[in-house]
Amino acid sequence: MKRSEQLKKLSWEHHDALKFARHIRKGLEQGSDPAVIGAYALHVTEKFLEPHFRLEEQALVSRLTEAQRQEPSVQQVLEEHRRFRAMKEGLRQAGADRVPRLEQFLSLLKAHVNLEEKGFFPFIEQTLGPEGLERARVEIDRGHIPGDLDWAQRFWE
Ligand SMILES: [Fe+2]
Ligand SMILES: [Fe+2]
Repeated sequence: MKRSEQLKKLSWEHHDALKFARHIRKGLEQGSDPAVIGAYALHVTEKFLEPHFRLEEQALVSRLTEAQRQEPSVQQVLEEHRRFRAMKEGLRQAGADRVPRLEQFLSLLKAHVNLEEKGFFPFIEQTLGPEGLERARVEIDRGHIPGDLDWAQRFWE
């Protein structure tokens, strides 16, 4: 299904999120310092993912009725947003399980984008109706998070 005009900028943000995930993947494959990769993942979470999640929750989830919010894809989106927040502490910590924690972060990020593009966004497009979608678009366009992270250390190259 083609993404609606109204949600397009959130899909652009998903493209950027997957680009950041590729940087982390390449860093891990090349044996870059896990402390640096962990700091990058934390930076991505705070500067990009968390504002993106807030935008999704404010522009989309808050427009649903209580009953519509019970839809499994919506519940899963909210649960995964909480899991990303919970992961931050782990990304800060040193130790042997740094790499497994980064792997976990990557798989959650990919699964999350997939869930939203294949389940959550189609549900929103069907449920909000043209007027609700248009109001969501105004908020999304205003809150759009640019994909430049201000991060100098290109450990993936
Ligand atoms: Fe999300
Ligand atoms: Fe998203």
